[in-house]
Amino acid sequence: MVGIICAMHEEINEILSLAKNSKKIKFGVFEFTECEIFGVKCVLFLCGVGKVHAAMCTQALIMKYNPELILNVGIAGGLGFEINIGDIVIASGVIQHDFDISSFPGRKKGEISGIDLTEIPTTKWVADEILFWSKNILNMKVHEGIVLSGDQFVSSPEKVAELRNEFGGIACEMEAGAIGQVCYINKKDFGIIRAISDNANLTSGVDFEKFKKTSSKNAAVILSNFIKNCDL
Ligand code: ADE
Repeated sequence: MVGIICAMHEEINEILSLAKNSKKIKFGVFEFTECEIFGVKCVLFLCGVGKVHAAMCTQALIMKYNPELILNVGIAGGLGFEINIGDIVIASGVIQHDFDISSFPGRKKGEISGIDLTEIPTTKWVADEILFWSKNILNMKVHEGIVLSGDQFVSSPEKVAELRNEFGGIACEMEAGAIGQVCYINKKDFGIIRAISDNANLTSGVDFEKFKKTSSKNAAVILSNFIKNCDL
């Protein structure tokens, strides 16, 4: 079984449109959608925005279904000069840019106490397969790199420069780092697919609203190609 987590309705709706035999299941305060996508058993979950929602959902998903693989699919702000709206970012790793214990000697910004890691790498075979199966998709530029998560919507060139210089990230969003941390602690394979909806600059709010649907669709196209072709 593949667990698929999205933060927003716009993101999950594109994936629900690929799903067959959907069944809604209640588990505590959560509602999962069990379904099949290209014959692969999947469970979809709308977690809500931010790292706490994402962490709650990921742990619940693991405890209820113990999926072989967890994917986080959705949209993100682009942080690189070469990253444009509509492009795809496949995470090689995730960092929580707002986790900061750097006042303590030897600790770096973004380093997570307890696991003592700054970057949590995504599962290599998952990122490699997603990239491989994305190659045939025309008119979509696909990048691989670090995705930065924080509980804030980034909308300033200064913050973009800071995030790029400090962490070398190519996209920012609000959930992947938390999902990565929960998967890492539970020793669960995971991957992150994000499509760029804005450039995290002064027009990011307007761009986000304008492009959230088309970029969510781009992310869903990458997901569907992976699920259809990869031997899961
Ligand atoms: N998701 C999409 N765009 C974003 C941004 N600019 N900041 C944080 N999360 C985002």
